[in-house]
Amino acid sequence: MSDLPELDVEPRVAAMLPPWTETMQYIRKSPKRAPVEVLRAAAARGRPVVQPRCGVGGHDEMRTLLTTLERSARPGILTITIDSFTRLKQFRTAAQTLQREPADLNGYPLVTHGWRRGRELNESVDAPIEVRHGSPDPRELFAVSLASGFTSFEGGGIDYNLPYSKDVSLTRSLAAWAQVDRLCGLLAEEGVIVDRELFGTLTAVLVPPSVSLAVCVLEARAASLAGVRCLSIAYPQGGEVHQDIAALRSIPVLARRYLPENVEIFPVLHEFMGVFPADPDVADALILYGGLTARLGGAAKVINKTNQEARGIPDAQANVAGIRTAALACTDLLDFVRVDEATVEEETYWLQREVAELVEPVLAAPDLAAAIVDAFADGRLDIPFSASVHARSEVIPKRDATGAIRYLNPGRLPFSRPTLRRNEQCLRVDRASLSRRLIDEIRSDINFFLHAERRFQADRATVECPGPATAGPGAAASSGGVR
Ligand code: 5AD
Repeated sequence: MSDLPELDVEPRVAAMLPPWTETMQYIRKSPKRAPVEVLRAAAARGRPVVQPRCGVGGHDEMRTLLTTLERSARPGILTITIDSFTRLKQFRTAAQTLQREPADLNGYPLVTHGWRRGRELNESVDAPIEVRHGSPDPRELFAVSLASGFTSFEGGGIDYNLPYSKDVSLTRSLAAWAQVDRLCGLLAEEGVIVDRELFGTLTAVLVPPSVSLAVCVLEARAASLAGVRCLSIAYPQGGEVHQDIAALRSIPVLARRYLPENVEIFPVLHEFMGVFPADPDVADALILYGGLTARLGGAAKVINKTNQEARGIPDAQANVAGIRTAALACTDLLDFVRVDEATVEEETYWLQREVAELVEPVLAAPDLAAAIVDAFADGRLDIPFSASVHARSEVIPKRDATGAIRYLNPGRLPFSRPTLRRNEQCLRVDRASLSRRLIDEIRSDINFFLHAERRFQADRATVECPGPATAGPGAAASSGGVR
């Protein structure tokens, strides 16, 4: 059995772990910079560090991937993205797949490879490594991560459940993550700070910023009550820059309002997580735009995309290019860029008000986990487009004319009249005509950046093929219609 404090892990996995004191010693003696130190430095500099996602099945391939990304792009923090079998605790299937065909795994099966190989990866690069996954119950994975020396771990009881699992109850996922967070609390008491990152991106499809932030505030409160002292709060780029900046800048404000003072908070931006342009030039532009949004919003870290996003998991070269492009936006190259601060301020006011209306009734209850479960059960908390039976998904988001994400239908969210009115005003929708076209409208909003791509390609076609013999400007423009 394991002697890990707080964490109940499967006996088969526990039996393979090193003694707890040895893990503590390994982490303490590590000459590497801890993730929290990299984040502090980035926050102090006012320039986000860039972090890629990366994970392949084979161990040697994983080590090569990490060292290649480090050598060629110098990201501030590296990642091990975990495969889906491991995320779902299907360790046997992960092991069988690894043996048969490692390339069939969509990430690195850390539990199967074990902590010795984890340490080897840790020691093969200078940058600290975060474990990113999507597990509703990550206890075995967290145990092996710590034994490997990884002190940055993504996920939470809501954000790694509802977007990923069809039928895992929130009671279960919250309880599993509470064990992780309590162990982080014990580690913090011993001077080892684990960076716990929350996945505000949720389903990644038109997530209204206040839904993302409300979920993270609740998870952050639960984590800090359990003893966590360092939280990275990740928000997904929606695409409208004022709204995105308002959301990122709200993270420290909300933290001061709802979290204890002794918790360090780092805002993180996920570069656009929705349907990504396939044209590499347009994709690169979007990647640069994400980096710029992160810096203007005061993020400590940005998770980059790649120009292979539309095709699936990127290869190393595309990832190198993506890291470099995002990093370019975080240098002083674009320091002259300004946004309309009055618009940001207005967005900030309404966003924080919406978050308050969502979280305050839940935070007022005596038992936070139970209150979260109840609120999702009756739709007072909700996320759009969730596959989980434990979220109602009655919220219908919609972009307004500027591209900002609003609530077309707030479902059962407990919004005040002024908040509802503000959303209506922003959308200025003709409901009668919309109801007929609703699916098309929402699909179009989801494909927001594909329309920009089509317009760009139409313009490029015009430039590249001038003259009536091919396609005139009019023809090119009309073939690039947006829907
Ligand atoms: N390596 C790199 N990126 C990955 N993603 C998922 N798995 C991996 C992996 N093993 C990325 C997807 C998408 C996001 C959800 O995570 O490409 O950008």
